[in-house]
Amino acid sequence: MAITFTLNGKPQSVDVSPEMPLLWVLRDTLNLTGTKFGCGMALCGACTVHVNGEATRSCITAVSSVAGKHVTTIEGLAADASHPVQQAWVEIDVPQCGYCQSGQIMSAAALLAKKPHPSDADIDDAMKGNICRCGTYQRIRKAIHRAAELHGGAAKEREKAAAR
Ligand code: FES
Ligand code: FES
Repeated sequence: MAITFTLNGKPQSVDVSPEMPLLWVLRDTLNLTGTKFGCGMALCGACTVHVNGEATRSCITAVSSVAGKHVTTIEGLAADASHPVQQAWVEIDVPQCGYCQSGQIMSAAALLAKKPHPSDADIDDAMKGNICRCGTYQRIRKAIHRAAELHGGAAKEREKAAAR
C-alpha cells in the first residue's frame, strides 16, 4: 500500500514495505543520497532529517511512521543552499571528509529553528548525537554561532522590507 507524505515541500507517495527505514526509502527508492548511512542504529547522526521540524534519525524511522507528515532532507533545506546554516558552513569551511556533514547541518538547522541564539551548552546538547570522525566539532560550534548571526541579519532585513 502506498505511503504518502510531504517531502521537501512536495507530495510524495512510495509503494514500499511499511517497515522499511525512511533512510532506505530516501536513498534507494527516491535517489536522495545527501542523507548518509553511518551506523543504522541511531548512534552517529549521519542519517538525520527533519520530520515535522524535529531532527530525526531516519535509519531507525519506519517509513509508515511519517505518513501524512513533513519530511525535509538536506536537499530540501534551501533550494539554492542559502539557508543560514549552509552559508555559515561554507564561510567557516567546516567539513573535512564531509561524510557526517549533512546530518550535522540538519541537526544544527533544527536547533536554530527552536533556539535562534543558542549557547555553547545548547549547541553541545543538540549536537551530541552527531558524531564526526574527523573531529570538526570546534568549527561546527563556531558555524552554528555564525548561522545565528546570519539568521538574525536576514530577519532584520525582512522586517525592514516589510516596514517599507
Ligand atoms: S545511520 Fe542513523 S544514526 Fe547512524
Ligand atoms: S567531516 Fe569527516 S566525519 Fe565529519
